[in-house]
Amino acid sequence: MASKSEAKKSHVVLVPLPIQGHVNPFLKLAKLLHHKGFHITFVNTESNHNKLLESRGPNSLNGLPYFRFETIPDNLRPNNNEDVTQNIVPLLCKSASRNTSFVPFCSLLSKLNDHSDSNASPVTCIISEGSMSFAFEASEYFGLPYLFFSVHNACGFMSFMQCRNLMERGVIPLKDASYLTNGYLDTIIDWIPGMKNIHLRDLPSFYRTTDPNDKMLDFFLDEFERVSKASAIILLTFDALEPELLDALPSVFPKLYTIAPLQLLLDHTVEKDLDSIGSNLWKEEAECLQWLNSKDPNSVIYVSFGSVIVMTPQQLVELAWGLANSKVNFLWVIRPDLVVGETVVLPPEFLLETKDTGLIVDWCPQEQVLNHPAVGGFLTHCGWNSIIESISSGVPLICSPFSSDQPINRRYVCSEWGFGIEMDSNNINRDEVEGLVRDLIDGQKGKKLRDNVIEWKRKAEAATCSNGSSYLNLERLANEVPLLK
Ligand code: UDX
Repeated sequence: MASKSEAKKSHVVLVPLPIQGHVNPFLKLAKLLHHKGFHITFVNTESNHNKLLESRGPNSLNGLPYFRFETIPDNLRPNNNEDVTQNIVPLLCKSASRNTSFVPFCSLLSKLNDHSDSNASPVTCIISEGSMSFAFEASEYFGLPYLFFSVHNACGFMSFMQCRNLMERGVIPLKDASYLTNGYLDTIIDWIPGMKNIHLRDLPSFYRTTDPNDKMLDFFLDEFERVSKASAIILLTFDALEPELLDALPSVFPKLYTIAPLQLLLDHTVEKDLDSIGSNLWKEEAECLQWLNSKDPNSVIYVSFGSVIVMTPQQLVELAWGLANSKVNFLWVIRPDLVVGETVVLPPEFLLETKDTGLIVDWCPQEQVLNHPAVGGFLTHCGWNSIIESISSGVPLICSPFSSDQPINRRYVCSEWGFGIEMDSNNINRDEVEGLVRDLIDGQKGKKLRDNVIEWKRKAEAATCSNGSSYLNLERLANEVPLLK
């Protein structure tokens, strides 16, 4: 039976973009806030809710008291006829509009405010992200504070906020398609506060358009307006990682909380009951951990391209032969939908040749994999979760960005933070893959990168233990949320 004081807790509703790289950090934040005493409602789309039940078992979403899951209809997700061969994110951003989800989400908020069906207190705040514009509009409609949770770091967030500036300076849209190849993308952008030595090609891939009416540009312009009106912004970074940007950002966005790595905060602060609430949308093949047990320390390269990237059959085959020819052990996540419009087919000779050195899985428990002593490197598409998880585990990277914030993440990992080497995803070549994998796992270069990332791991640990910057910012957030307007 809940006590009176418990029933009076603040009630936070969290609504992530329905893809893995967003659901994961949102759920971690939800757990941390629950630990701080908040009532939590976590909103998934119906199909993601069902996927979570499938991958974790029917009881996996039976949360703790005051930790409930709710759903909104799936009309956010593009239907099967739409072209999702490039990147599903722009489609989701365009469709997460007032037309599709505003009404069901408002109905949900009304239901949550109706005390008759639960002991939870009325909703006090919404935490969502720019791409979920209906959540922002609903917060205005209900007069609730809106917290913008960017699942990116400060350099990613700052880059996404530059759309208007780039347009006003005439940098984008590109004049014509030749600008994609004539060296124009090497233009130095030296006027973004807190960012130096940046080229146009490092900024979000969505800016590389020749269409002045490109819907994604409109989306970013609108997003800037929404972010500017948010009560506060939460960034998935820690102070020591991006000091110059974090000095520059408050002049534009004064109310900022930097709280990462979330997993380290969870390790330090949360009771274990919450571990049963998982967020994986695919079933994890945990047997790969046993396979890793059979390998020497730092002898395995882990390869994964996150949850949304798609590649061509040629890219896949070049990658495969690069891994095989390196003779280095590899654990490779090949999602069933990784290859554009096709079932994944790998050459039988490759499978035969790598039967002792390689393991391929559909999906794995990535954070456990990265923390396994056998894993000595990570070939990644540079999704921010993958990078922050690598920092937490002290694993150096081969950086092969495809789209979105991945190019700017690559830039910072390789040039500023010094724990990754670059690989061009447009032109994946087996000889290059072979050389880079060997360098990372066996070479002097890899050793240097590993030393550097271990330094960052120490700084991340310092940020998340008592009195570290992320730890204190989480405290501040918890204290200030009930007071936000
Ligand atoms: C998306 C965008 O593509 C990315 O650019 C942005 O920075 C975050 O949102 P995604 O592509 O899914 O993310 O990649 P990433 O950010 O790396 O997130 C993937 C998540 O899935 C990670 O938390 C990772 O631990 C998890 N994962 C991945 C698994 O648990 N198992 C796997 O096999 C692969």
